Amino acid sequence: MKDHLVIFDTTLRDGEQSPGASMTKEEKLRVARQLERMRVDVIEAGFAAASPGDFDAIRSIAETVKDSTVCSLARANENDIRRAGEAIKPASSGRIHTFIATSPIHMEKKLRMTPDEVVEAAVKAVIQARQYTDDVEFSAEDAVRSDFDFLCRIFEATIKAGARTINVPDTVGYSIPSVWGERMRALIERVPGSDKVVWSTHCHNDLGMAVANSLAAVMAGARQVECTINGLGERAGNASLEEIVMAVRTRSDLFAVETRIDTTQIVPASKLISQITGYPVQPNKAVVGANAFAHESGIHQDGVIKHRETYEIMRAEDVGWAQNKLVLGKHSGRNAFKTRLADLGMVVGSEEQLNIAFARFKELADKKHEIFDEDLHALMSDETVTPEQEHYKLVSLRVASETGETPHARITLSVGGTESQSEADGDGPVDASFKALERIASSQSELLLFSVNSITGGTDAQGEVTVRLAKEGRVVNGQGADTDIVVASVKAYINALNKLFSSPEKVNPQI
Ligand code: KIV
Ligand code: ZN
Repeated sequence: MKDHLVIFDTTLRDGEQSPGASMTKEEKLRVARQLERMRVDVIEAGFAAASPGDFDAIRSIAETVKDSTVCSLARANENDIRRAGEAIKPASSGRIHTFIATSPIHMEKKLRMTPDEVVEAAVKAVIQARQYTDDVEFSAEDAVRSDFDFLCRIFEATIKAGARTINVPDTVGYSIPSVWGERMRALIERVPGSDKVVWSTHCHNDLGMAVANSLAAVMAGARQVECTINGLGERAGNASLEEIVMAVRTRSDLFAVETRIDTTQIVPASKLISQITGYPVQPNKAVVGANAFAHESGIHQDGVIKHRETYEIMRAEDVGWAQNKLVLGKHSGRNAFKTRLADLGMVVGSEEQLNIAFARFKELADKKHEIFDEDLHALMSDETVTPEQEHYKLVSLRVASETGETPHARITLSVGGTESQSEADGDGPVDASFKALERIASSQSELLLFSVNSITGGTDAQGEVTVRLAKEGRVVNGQGADTDIVVASVKAYINALNKLFSSPEKVNPQI
């Protein structure tokens, strides 16, 4: 019998702390549904006290998700714990994750608190959190640079106060596997009451060792790993969920644990996160990179044809690469469309929204014979602004581009229901279109990112564009997809503008 390894996904909290990766409530809900479908044990849905927007998103996730525990982060203070407790209230299983820094540098320079005060605040926070839920996790931020005896002291105290999970973070990605595993083993041995809690690890990737350190902690007795899809997260990111899960599964001869993850949902989750945040996945990324199962050398190809396992330690279909099924075509009906969206975890709010989305699907099916799941995700990404938030709407776009000539764009936009037209030259058709658009919108925003990807293979594939705009400290990502990449770019820009000008939400919940 193997022990259960709890997979605690923090894509929606630590992952969202990546610069520019902030998500809207609707986007967070889509991600949470996918995480639930993947059978993640705990979804850290956000940091409730960070902003009303984050609170709202956590609450909606708590109302929606049934098969995963929904967790909110909270600093060790009264207000944070109260907000977290209120946000997770509707969850069928809710957790509060409270933390305080324990390293000398953080206590002295950041918190300006003595070690005694830190222990007192941690204990108080855990006791308060237990009033909202029995499932309380305590983290010692910067545990990697904390004094070992002090860690033992604060963990003993918080276990006595009622914490059920004790998390040991390498906040700054400083450790190496042998040292990190040893620290976990020593803590489990030394801390009184350690047998009553689940020991957890949370590793950042500053030296590229987040996954290796997490796995070393598991070998030493940790039974929860905190991780993110695609390794998204602060700075160099967190340990990547897909690598942890597949390492434990593929090397089950070495690990005494198993997860309950449906691994076939890994690639769809990776693509969804990449699409929503605009963070591309590097082609050679383990498990979810486009080349992770591609064999280029003749010798390798020959080997795989003769016997797959000569060069493959995992099967592409086991992590969801075969999920990219041909799903719908131009003759598919409204019901089939709605059912497939539901299968993919996308719930269309009203009948009117469904009709609009279906009309757009039909338009796409006219241009592109084969519609894949990724196309549907892209199509629905455009729906992440509600009709009320759709202040800017593309009416028409005409672009002229010819070798030796300056590209020129003419655009008609509906702005709050009134049509306006404008024209501009540019360095390319996209540049000309954005300039024409800005002549109408005058958004005074800064373009931080413009990225184009092909959603599926073939020259009729849709181009998927992410545009990241910043204005007065707010950063938003807009998505657009179309078989014409200039149109996709304009749609992405308009999507970003609509997000920028809708009700302000938290930008980057840096803590
Ligand atoms: O990296 C870290 O220490 C954290 C804590 C809040 C767990 O994210
Ligand atoms: Zn972290």
